[in-house]
Amino acid sequence: MTASAAHSILPSLSPDEERHSRAAQALIRERLVAPGGWLSFEQFMELALYAPGFGYYSAGSVKIGAGGDFVTAPEVSDLFSRCVARQCADVLAETGGEILELGAGTGRMAATILQSLATLGVLPERYAILEVSADLAERQRTRIQQLPAELRDRVVWLGRLPETPIRGVLLANEVLDALPFKRFAVYDGSVRELGVGLQDDSFVWREKPSGLPADASAPQHRASDALVAAGNALMKELPFALPDGYTSEICLRVEPWITSVSQCLDQGMLLLFDYGLPRAHYYHPQRIDGTLRCYFKQRAHDDPFTNIAVQDITAWVDFTRVGEAALNADLEVAGFATQAAFLLGTGIEALTAEATDVADRARLAGEARRLLLPGEMGESFKVMALCRNLRQPLRGFAHQDLRTSL
Ligand SMILES: C[S@@+](CC[C@H](N)C(=O)[O-])C[C@H]1O[C@@H](n2cnc3c(N)ncnc32)[C@H](O)[C@@H]1O
Repeated sequence: MTASAAHSILPSLSPDEERHSRAAQALIRERLVAPGGWLSFEQFMELALYAPGFGYYSAGSVKIGAGGDFVTAPEVSDLFSRCVARQCADVLAETGGEILELGAGTGRMAATILQSLATLGVLPERYAILEVSADLAERQRTRIQQLPAELRDRVVWLGRLPETPIRGVLLANEVLDALPFKRFAVYDGSVRELGVGLQDDSFVWREKPSGLPADASAPQHRASDALVAAGNALMKELPFALPDGYTSEICLRVEPWITSVSQCLDQGMLLLFDYGLPRAHYYHPQRIDGTLRCYFKQRAHDDPFTNIAVQDITAWVDFTRVGEAALNADLEVAGFATQAAFLLGTGIEALTAEATDVADRARLAGEARRLLLPGEMGESFKVMALCRNLRQPLRGFAHQDLRTSL
């Protein structure tokens, strides 16, 4: 996800956005009053992004692309998806079967991958999409409709993960960063959960009051101290002490998400792309305010209590947590690299050079720079391959192996 990092004044809301945001705020206020005036940030984020009819991903704003709130790699350039397709082609040649994309955004990556695989002569039996946003699913349908029948007829939308494990490839670009996470602060060497309270009718950060009952309304019904346990385990593991007031995030949904997705894979590869870091870098003492970011009309900022339900909320991914969850789910961490290394390994340079027209080549070179340069998406974005019963080495990871950093 990219957008300007300038904390300049955010564009004002349109009357429709204002109405939508006010309705979502009223819903969250109602939910806040019930459990003693406090919601975990995870619950707040779940409502702000996914509340049926109200959440950012459930309602109809443009979100992704130049006219939306942020731009993702498949929207920056089709070179990205063409490289991903090359990696998919290798795996499909061994496994046969299908591709399942989780959170397919505008459908652009799905369309480009299918076109590329047709050219490479390795089409999947079907291309399934699991999308939680009805609005984005609609955009995907419109996009896929533009493909030739031979390709569009392979695309299906699923309401839930398949019950019978598949052979082939599972893809998720920038989905992990969209999973609701918890927020914490460190005081006197231990972790305290930060959630959301109300002050003068506005949402504010508030420490979890002591004696609040377990987080029974959270989807996993997990014990209320799960965050504190995870935070304290983290503090023990890190090679340095975190200073007082240090604030960051932990996404406890990574493990159940990886577990359920892994259960769908009989043979093949789950390929994850996201901005993130290995744990020791993520929770570095200098990253004193964590990685929470909001995206609104191509501006990035760090206030989740403004523009509620009309802006995206995300955090970077702790890839060590993803790797641990994968091992617990019996998946092999077969590769971990920067986006730049992955794209170079899958031939982005050759694809760029293929353009015969000078203007096309110049455009592609510009797009490739955006995907590859360290100051753009090349280094902060990582790629992780989680495999099961796959024999072949993966070309996307031939240039770089960052697994020891996890
Ligand atoms: C930041 S967007 C990325 C979209 C697209 N992959 C791209 O790169 O343009 C996050 C996507 O994840 C989807 N999503 C969020 N939670 C999900 C979940 N639990 N399972 C599947 N998709 C999810 C959202 O609806 C959205 O399509």
